[in-house]
Amino acid sequence: MSVRLAPSILSADFAALGAAIQAVERGGVDQIHLDVMDGHFVPNLTIGPAIVKAVRRITSLPLDVHLMVTNPDQYLEAFASAGANAMTVHVEILPHLHRTLGAIKKLGCRAGAAINPSTPPEALSEVLDDLDIVLVMSVNPGFGGQAFIPHTESKIQRVRQMLDARRSRADLSVDGGIDRSTVGRVVMAGATVLVAGAAIFDSPDPERTAKELRALALEAASAPRS
Ligand code: DX5
Ligand code: ZN
Repeated sequence: MSVRLAPSILSADFAALGAAIQAVERGGVDQIHLDVMDGHFVPNLTIGPAIVKAVRRITSLPLDVHLMVTNPDQYLEAFASAGANAMTVHVEILPHLHRTLGAIKKLGCRAGAAINPSTPPEALSEVLDDLDIVLVMSVNPGFGGQAFIPHTESKIQRVRQMLDARRSRADLSVDGGIDRSTVGRVVMAGATVLVAGAAIFDSPDPERTAKELRALALEAASAPRS
């Protein structure tokens, strides 16, 4: 199973964002995760299309935009033209999730759905075949640097089973509290994309930390399954 590391720039130094991204790029990361928060769906405000556009200019890595907003449909076009390669929306606020996923794909992006720690994986069962990415939140969204919520490990296993049963090749992305101590467990549970913010950007050497986390993830992916 291949695994990929996606640094979340939420914990990067925004005054030196270009350098932060170049450092993790040297660290061999696979994609960049950008957390968009609107102060409604989550109690925080972060970035918008202007920052995605600026990041697009300095890296050719895929840009994976995580929309923690109550009205994502209104912004899909802006993020796509800013250079997003993938957009992930939250099932908790979308009465017409199927339509939104279709709109994301129509814009030429990969489509993802995210579930909060209190949302069961079954919330995705009717759209599994439409998903390029399932994102399991392993913290309550809103802030970087929170502790991994242990029960999400069994949820990752259940999502893995659901995807395998449908022969889905969607990414199983895990977001929140990923560090040296959790990365292996999460990969063993079936994750294929690891989002990590604080563990990388709050470390003294983000390039090296990214390399280490990626190596730990690859090691867990090649370990024999019990
Ligand atoms: C949380 C965001 C995450 C967050 C992960 O709401 O969706 O992407 O930045 O950060 P860490 O790795 O610090 O938990
Ligand atoms: Zn995120």
